Amino acid sequence: MKIGILDSGVGGLSVLREVHRLLPGVPIHYVGDSAWCPYGNKAPEMINNRVFEITDHLIEGGATLIMIACNSATIHSVGPLRNAYLLPIVGMEPGVKPAAETTKSGVVGVLATEASIAGEKFHQLVNNHARGVKVITRPCPRFVELVEAGTLNGPEAEKAISESITPLLDADADVLVLGCTHYPFLSPVIKSQLPAEVSLIDTGVAVAKRVKNLLPGELPATGETEIFIETTGSLEHLDEILPKLLPGITAKTAFCLL
Ligand code: DGL
Repeated sequence: MKIGILDSGVGGLSVLREVHRLLPGVPIHYVGDSAWCPYGNKAPEMINNRVFEITDHLIEGGATLIMIACNSATIHSVGPLRNAYLLPIVGMEPGVKPAAETTKSGVVGVLATEASIAGEKFHQLVNNHARGVKVITRPCPRFVELVEAGTLNGPEAEKAISESITPLLDADADVLVLGCTHYPFLSPVIKSQLPAEVSLIDTGVAVAKRVKNLLPGELPATGETEIFIETTGSLEHLDEILPKLLPGITAKTAFCLL
């Protein structure tokens, strides 16, 4: 068994980290499409093409389950992908449902990419699970740039975060949803700017549990687990920022031309 994980870049490593925590004995093959990042401002057809190409590559590499660790790619491609492949495909969507269940003020802020917010699937999510709740969306493309650069804290990150969340807090949101897998890497700084009564929702742990439930049979015992991380962008840059993104996790890395 091998879990194939994909994202537009390094954001999905926030999901890899949760999957590895829960399934330390299971090999993981990750592809970060940093050469095409961000997906957030791309057309759905383009996102689809990339997701199919990367999925083929992961399957050729032996993946037995595909985790789309990208909300934008899930919103546009999970349906077509499930129609095209027989292996289990796990996607992730902004945590609108848990947010609607948690809010006391009746106002929820969803931080997500433009591509996610524009998707039909996102509108269905809001209509089905957040009736009677005011859902304010906010794209944060700067967060993706910061995380891709490996800038997880400091004045630049603080400024970008404050600019994005202040309007949501001013609108009385008491729950913020991290609707893009890059954003959890900024959680410590985001949390430091939130009043105590405002909560932050990240679906990384929930999707890792979903992956665990879908793996068949006995899970391999913990031991030497192979974590292989490929990038379509600069390998040198990936190697430089990886210790910040995945402290304590050893991975083999490579460039991949797709
Ligand atoms: N990490 C991605 C997501 O969860 C997309 C970020 C981007 O490439 O714009 O939506």
